[in-house]
Formats: sequence, C-alpha cells, structure tokens
Amino acid sequence: MSATRNLLDTSVDLGDATASYRGDQFRRYLDAETIQTRVGEMGQQISEDYPDTTPILVSVLNGAFMFTADLMRAIHTECEIDFIKLSSYGAEKVSSGDVQELKSVDAPLADRDIIIVEDIVDTGLTMDFMKERFQAYNPSSLRVATLLHKPTATEPDLQLDYVGFRIPDLFVIGYGLDYAQLGRNHADIYILDE
Ligand code: IMP
Repeated sequence: MSATRNLLDTSVDLGDATASYRGDQFRRYLDAETIQTRVGEMGQQISEDYPDTTPILVSVLNGAFMFTADLMRAIHTECEIDFIKLSSYGAEKVSSGDVQELKSVDAPLADRDIIIVEDIVDTGLTMDFMKERFQAYNPSSLRVATLLHKPTATEPDLQLDYVGFRIPDLFVIGYGLDYAQLGRNHADIYILDE
C-alpha cells in the first residue's frame, strides 16, 4: 500500500489545507461548507424555475457525480436523472479538445426539459459538444448547470444557466474532480499551487 503511494508520488491528507498528486502541489480553495451552501442555492433556483414540469438532470460522468448527488437532493420539485460519459483529460491538465461519447443517455429526451449537470466548464469544448448533441433530441428546453466555470478560458458565446463558482484558469481537484483519476474523494476543492 505505502509502496504504491510512493510510486505515484501521491500524498493524501484528507481534510488538510494542502494536497499533492503526482508531484504537483494543490491548496484548499473552496471548503465543503462553502460548496454545500452554494449547491443548496442552485437547487433552490432550479426548484423555482421548474415548478410544473419534471426536468431530467443529465449528469456528466465521472467528474459531476458528487455535485449531481448534492444538487439533486437540493431540488425540492419533481426531477429525474440520467448519465452520459465523455472522454476526459486522461492524465493531462489541459484539454485535448477531442471529445468522445463513451456512454450515452438511456432515457428518451424528446420534449423533455433537460438540464446538463457538469462539474466544470473550462474551454467549453465539451459543453459545446453536449449542447449540440442534446439539441438533436428536440427537447422542450435545454439548460446547463455547472459547479465551476473558468471564464477566462471559455469561448465567450457559450451560455451557462446555473453556475456555482467562477474560478481562475488553474487546474482544480476534489469534490469529484480528478487529476489522472486521483483526488476525487476530497469534500473540499483544491487548486494548483503555482
Ligand atoms: P472543457 O471541454 O475544456 O470545458 O473541459 C471540460 C472537462 O474537462 C470537464 O468536464 C472536466 O472533466 C475536465 N476539466 C476541466 N478543467 C478541469 C480541472 O481544473 N480539473 C479537473 N478536470 C477538469
């Protein structure tokens, strides 16, 4: 166990103010309480925006799984859930721009109110891809909820309907977000300490 950890150059101090993965240092940026408060507000907003219809949340795996679970619990009106899985950054910290669908949604989406639930919008390429993909189903409406947004990295035309936090253009981990699959299990969000 400890040999594996040394091999990966990974030190996990859950709950601590810093974390280190594969030689990169991260510092705590958003604590769990701050995240939960904001997610609660987003859930409230969505509840108010869909009083009479049953929106379907489409959670983007893997990164959005934790955010989706908390967001769904914060919605007090009827809603459904489904999942889509897209290719990720792999072991890199920059987007390849090459988005591939690894698992598609099972539920019929025609005439539905879709809310895409994403962990983070960086360049916006992934969200662009998904919006186009979902528009093809002819939904009643299509909105986007993202926990994090890096506005300086994103193409300006991309419309995001529910945004948790706007953050600087730096790599983040925790609360479902990973660096080469590690770091998802922090309740807090950590940012690359340059
Ligand atoms: P985009 O296509 O550049 O907007 O990237 C979107 C996807 O890249 C997200 O769904 C995440 O999986 C991943 N990603 C972008 N920025 C980060 C980050 O700072 N940490 C972890 N994953 C990220």
